[in-house]
Amino acid sequence: MKVRTVPARLGALTAAAMIVFGACSSAASPAPAASAAAGGAGGALPSAATSGKLEIFSYWTAGGEAQALAAVEKVFNAQYPNIAITNAVVAGGAGSNANAVLAQRMQANNPPDTFQIHGGAELLDNWVKTNYMQPLTQLYQQQGWMDKFPKQLIDLVSYNGAPYAVPLDVHRNGVLWYNKSIFTQNNLQPPTTWDQFFQVADQLKAKGITPLALGDKDQWESLQLFEDILLSTLGPADYRSIWTGGFSWSDPKVTQALQTMAKVIGYVNNDHATLTWDQADGLVMQGKAAMNIMGDWAKGYFEANGWKPGQDFGWAPAPGTTGDFIVVTDTFGMPKNIKDPGQTIAWLETLGSVKAQEAFNPIKGSVCARLDCSPSVFDAYSQSSMQDFAKDQLVPSEANGPASIPAFLTPITTAIAQFVNDGNVQNAQSTIAAACKSSGACTQ
Ligand code: GAL
Repeated sequence: MKVRTVPARLGALTAAAMIVFGACSSAASPAPAASAAAGGAGGALPSAATSGKLEIFSYWTAGGEAQALAAVEKVFNAQYPNIAITNAVVAGGAGSNANAVLAQRMQANNPPDTFQIHGGAELLDNWVKTNYMQPLTQLYQQQGWMDKFPKQLIDLVSYNGAPYAVPLDVHRNGVLWYNKSIFTQNNLQPPTTWDQFFQVADQLKAKGITPLALGDKDQWESLQLFEDILLSTLGPADYRSIWTGGFSWSDPKVTQALQTMAKVIGYVNNDHATLTWDQADGLVMQGKAAMNIMGDWAKGYFEANGWKPGQDFGWAPAPGTTGDFIVVTDTFGMPKNIKDPGQTIAWLETLGSVKAQEAFNPIKGSVCARLDCSPSVFDAYSQSSMQDFAKDQLVPSEANGPASIPAFLTPITTAIAQFVNDGNVQNAQSTIAAACKSSGACTQ
């Protein structure tokens, strides 16, 4: 079985991620002291329960997401038929709604038994450093996981040397998806640069076809588009460092990225503010738009709705980002003070297994977090994603990470949403630069 190797470059991502990943909400008060039931402060964990109830909290409701979660639950139910799963879901891509509900529950000492959270500071800043989570060192040791995941991915879920969550997937943000029949009928090639994008977009617009589908009802989607343009303009090194102020938000290259974004917005559907990310992908499926730039959870959506990769839809890195991979990883951990930690241990043991990861990721559009999944269970897109993950420059996502600290994510999301409406480059740039300093994200 071919084992996927991971590049040293992930180390750079990790270093950046350990500084810059954040989240939509931030935990305010420190957690209550760990109870004995959860293995106490020392990290001694109970063994997996064989019966009882388990509440899973996530935001996976869209096409591809729900099916992938169902697939991993099926693996779990086969192994633990007497543990009943309650699926607590809060719809809204990227946790745009779920993270606030999670914060309320955690701060009210009413945590779910386990919850979906991005690896990086969304987990670490919000929930680990504030003492809400149980260390999982014993679980990793018992399962022999320390060399089954890329060390750098384990680092994304670790604090002071202890892991606090299990990575389930690796998604790629910033992929250009296109309707193959529209491109074939109009003799078009997927654009690899923004100049090519605008040439293709002008040809489509002349035919009365909306060039780019956007659904930014939850706002993170336009931030996600901006980060792709920012990466293509800055390159990976300056992109990584802008989130901590190492590269200045006031730089002329940021002006250029915002100007490119303003031009791109001229080619999207007028009703973008009423649509979610998956509804925008629906426009591409219906032939009402030709392209969409989104993470590869969009692949899961397309396939859940009957589209075949390479036949109905094609893909390419977002213009100007070939060789760069925006990493998004979904993880699950164990809050402290849950009533029955044994059920959560059973879930985490399952989640970290090859069997569960090979069941989940092909449906989700992501690739395994584990190094030893079989590439044979993945199709051409996902195998290319595994290869790119192994060789590309890896960078964090702001919209799905985020690449900053929790306090900066809301103001930059709001500033970009405002910018999509008014196209005011100077206002957006100065607002973001000020927020990076006032939020504490820009420390350099
Ligand atoms: C991302 C998440 C993905 C997918 C996407 C759309 O933040 O990591 O798993 O859910 O949002 O909701």
